[in-house]
Amino acid sequence: MHRAHSVSLLAVCSILIGCASHLPTMNSVQPVPRPDQIVSFDRLYGENCSACHGANGQDGPAIDLNNAVLQQLLDDATLHRVIRDGVPGTQMPAFGESAGGMLTDAQVDALVAGMRRRWASASLVHPVQMPPYTSTLTGNTARGQQLYQSDCRSCHSGRRQQVTDPTYLALVSEQALRTILIAGRPDLGHPGWLTVGGGRAITDQDVTDLVAYLVSLRVATPGQPYPEQSETGKTAPHTQEK
Ligand code: HEC
Ligand code: HEC
Repeated sequence: MHRAHSVSLLAVCSILIGCASHLPTMNSVQPVPRPDQIVSFDRLYGENCSACHGANGQDGPAIDLNNAVLQQLLDDATLHRVIRDGVPGTQMPAFGESAGGMLTDAQVDALVAGMRRRWASASLVHPVQMPPYTSTLTGNTARGQQLYQSDCRSCHSGRRQQVTDPTYLALVSEQALRTILIAGRPDLGHPGWLTVGGGRAITDQDVTDLVAYLVSLRVATPGQPYPEQSETGKTAPHTQEK
């Protein structure tokens, strides 16, 4: 009886000591960093961007950032501005403190630097010059329509994203269309500017005309009227190609 008592006392003691060894001592407590002091790319990207742009910068609902051509197309100042100010009228939020967001300039810089480290390629050279991020040319809608028929239509039919659908066009900015036409969407299988023109590289003028054509298809009240149901009960393809 006496012996059993001391054994259980020993057990209680060792449990207490065991627990105590897991309790942080005053010296080992790490202060929780203030949110505006976090500059780890993984944390900043994971908490602010991955839901839309995908866990590793691809396969998300928004454009893939894990694309060396896109990383080359947008210079540091542009990337910084897009993250800080967002893209008004789209789902891309403004993250910079100056624009009402939560990230400091240093954190935006850390995001830019991290994307470059992970997803850019210094050795990327092209056989012909890449169209610029912004153009000084004027778009020709009629020519854009011809290019669409010859270069895009074959792929963008059936169940693929109908990029001529006004509902789709209400959700993307002109710049996003331009960026996608140049950098491609490798995660979705949409080719970049070097091969999208039936194997031919498309030029600044081609991109500008294609974008002019697509935005000319926008309507004031996208989504209305709803597409009619066909006899099979399937929704009829809803394209508004002119
Ligand atoms: C709620 C969804 C959402 C979140 C969160 C988000 N984005 Fe975006 N992002 C978008 C959309 C949508 C676009 C395309 C906007 C348009 O139509 O121009 C975009 C566009 C971009 C572009 C390309 C702009 C261009 O000029 O072509 C970059 C770069 C970008 N986002 C970076 C980021 C980074 C970095 C973060 C995190 C700090 C982030 N985004 C968070 C939705 C999001
Ligand atoms: C080789 C086939 C192919 C060709 C050619 C092609 N695309 Fe695509 N494109 C795709 C695929 C696949 C997707 C992803 C479609 C989806 O998600 O349903 C896509 C996506 C896109 C998107 C992005 C859609 C989104 O979800 O944001 C745009 C914009 C686009 N294409 C425009 C064009 C234009 C304009 C042309 C002609 C210059 C073109 N594409 C030519 C295959 C192609």
